Amino acid sequence: MFFLVILGFTALAAFRGSVDAQGPANRTNTTTSALNPFGTGFLLSNASGGYVYNATGNLTSAEPRPFTPSGGLGNNGSEPNYHPLTDYDYQSLLFVLYQKFFELNLFESGLRNFSTADFQRAGLDANDRSLIEFMADQERGHVTLIQNILGPSAINRCNYTYTYRTVPEFIDFSRNVTGWGESGVYGFLEHLDSRAAAQLLLQTVTTEARQEMIFRQFEGLFPVPVWFQTEITQSMAWTLLSRYIRGCSTDSPRLAWQNFPALNITNNPNPLLNLTSPSNSTSPPPSNFTSTALSPGIFVNATNATNATFTPGITSNRTAFSFPGRVVQLAADFPGKSVGPNGSYVTNSTAGAPRFAAWISQLNTTYSVLENVQNVSNGWTATTRQPNDTVFPDVNEQVVNGTMFIVATDANISVTPYNISELNSHVVAGPGQYFAG
Ligand SMILES: *[C@@H]1O[C@H](CO)[C@@H](O)[C@H](O)[C@H]1NC(C)=O
Ligand SMILES: *[C@@H]1O[C@H](CO)[C@@H](O)[C@H](O)[C@H]1NC(C)=O
Ligand SMILES: *[C@@H]1O[C@H](CO)[C@@H](O)[C@H](O)[C@H]1NC(C)=O
Ligand SMILES: *[C@@H]1O[C@H](CO)[C@@H](O)[C@H](O)[C@H]1NC(C)=O
Ligand SMILES: *[C@@H]1O[C@H](CO)[C@@H](O)[C@H](O)[C@H]1NC(C)=O
Ligand SMILES: *[C@@H]1O[C@H](CO)[C@@H](O)[C@H](O)[C@H]1NC(C)=O
Ligand SMILES: *[C@@H]1O[C@H](CO)[C@@H](O)[C@H](O)[C@H]1NC(C)=O
Ligand SMILES: *[C@@H]1O[C@H](CO)[C@@H](O)[C@H](O)[C@H]1NC(C)=O
Ligand SMILES: *[C@@H]1O[C@H](CO)[C@@H](O)[C@H](O)[C@H]1NC(C)=O
Ligand SMILES: *[C@@H]1O[C@H](CO)[C@@H](O)[C@H](O)[C@H]1NC(C)=O
Ligand SMILES: *[C@@H]1O[C@H](CO)[C@@H](O)[C@H](O)[C@H]1NC(C)=O
Ligand SMILES: *[C@@H]1O[C@H](CO)[C@@H](O)[C@H](O)[C@H]1NC(C)=O
Repeated sequence: MFFLVILGFTALAAFRGSVDAQGPANRTNTTTSALNPFGTGFLLSNASGGYVYNATGNLTSAEPRPFTPSGGLGNNGSEPNYHPLTDYDYQSLLFVLYQKFFELNLFESGLRNFSTADFQRAGLDANDRSLIEFMADQERGHVTLIQNILGPSAINRCNYTYTYRTVPEFIDFSRNVTGWGESGVYGFLEHLDSRAAAQLLLQTVTTEARQEMIFRQFEGLFPVPVWFQTEITQSMAWTLLSRYIRGCSTDSPRLAWQNFPALNITNNPNPLLNLTSPSNSTSPPPSNFTSTALSPGIFVNATNATNATFTPGITSNRTAFSFPGRVVQLAADFPGKSVGPNGSYVTNSTAGAPRFAAWISQLNTTYSVLENVQNVSNGWTATTRQPNDTVFPDVNEQVVNGTMFIVATDANISVTPYNISELNSHVVAGPGQYFAG
């Protein structure tokens, strides 16, 4: 049984419909006025945060400057202030600096730890290596930017733990890291008090999004399998990052975000494998399911893959590594575990017993029921089923696609991208990254 949260798109759809109905032929060819000569009547009335706006297609207030519609934030000619304005800003930006140093160090480590021949066996040549080198340069630039924004209370580089053993695993891990780094910013960017700092951060995170896509191409995956990039909260992103930070200098400012208990997905589809044998699966795909990634046949164990399982490429139709109804196995820690720099953070949850899996992906958060919840020695295990849910009604795009996030929760509350942080107090464990496609 699935609990589906559908965004309030009805109003938006109605609005779009009215605009479309005019068609291009109705538009004026030259316009010297912003007034809409075609009286289409009332389109959308909307109130939020002290604003009330009736969109009619015409300007409703005098323009403060020529060709400048009234409204908007921070566009009245005042000098931009590219610094945090609140604890929320500072802590969000400080998280990004922890993340940026980690990415910089990660890219450097991969280039240092593997030989040219290692990269070649993974199908990556000198051009590809210099692209990774340039990504490290980009991270140096991002670190400099955030250090300048934070001023003297910035942190320095820490020491990190990596678990990758081969070039394909390095690439796969880098894809994961840039993925949660990107989603971790989308969750708070629009909530920053410092709109000026948000502007600069936007221009770093769009670069990071391109890095993630390039890593997918290095793996021979479909470059962008989603319609919308996913957002998660600072606490969720910090939960994923902190386990890889071994130590930081003791004068490093600490993060106020929550470290949730780990949620491990123990049967995650693996993009390094050629074929996954359905006979091994606890839940074989339906007979009408077709996928270029998942089909009966030989099982290639690429756990230690050093050769390219798949040739890097601009695009490939290798997608859909999972399917609706697939049984996903979860293993979670109890709270109270030391994690993060010098083990100085302790995992914490304010939620009750685990009841749901929240699938945070694209614009949606969809719940499935946790089944077979069992306590084990250091945590608990459960199974759940991948929801069958599309991004909008009447479209084919599955919500669960690409690398998305699963958290275990005690309730199935309704959240949307702008209030995803309401989920934090209900998180029992997670997120885990689920490789759906
Ligand atoms: C736009 O033009 C089409 C065909 O020319 C017409 O049927 C339609 O009523 C017009 N729409 C508006 C809003 O004027
Ligand atoms: C726009 O210009 C074209 C070509 O001059 C004309 O056929 C058309 O009717 C014009 N459309 C409007 C809405 O004035
Ligand atoms: C927009 O303003 C023009 C000119 O005043 C008017 O003719 C038209 O009806 C208005 N349109 C709407 C939708 O209010
Ligand atoms: C918006 O439209 C509604 C419905 O017509 C009306 O009651 C309200 O006064 C309008 N508000 C503004 C700010 O124009
Ligand atoms: C990183 O590890 C090295 C070697 O153990 C140690 O000398 C250094 O102090 C550590 N740095 C930080 C920031 O923890
Ligand atoms: C998967 O199935 C194949 C063929 O039946 C078998 O050789 C392999 O050991 C199985 N792997 C796992 C992880 O069960
Ligand atoms: C596959 O079969 C299931 C159950 O028979 C059906 O609900 C689903 O729509 C089918 N999917 C496709 C892609 O045909
Ligand atoms: C793949 O190989 C690894 C390392 O030898 C082994 O631990 C693992 O069980 C194998 N996985 C499967 C699915 O056969
Ligand atoms: C995979 O790598 C691990 C760690 O290097 C090693 O212990 C293991 O024997 C390898 N497995 C295979 C199947 O090569
Ligand atoms: C994957 O498996 C298929 C079917 O056995 C085979 O034809 C193909 O060459 C394999 N691809 C790679 C990259 O190993
Ligand atoms: C989850 O994975 C982490 C990191 O590999 C590990 O330390 C932890 O013991 C695992 N927890 C469970 C319950 O499997
Ligand atoms: C990357 O994340 C996926 C889940 O999306 C996980 O299964 C995989 O083990 C991760 N890769 C590495 C190298 O850590």
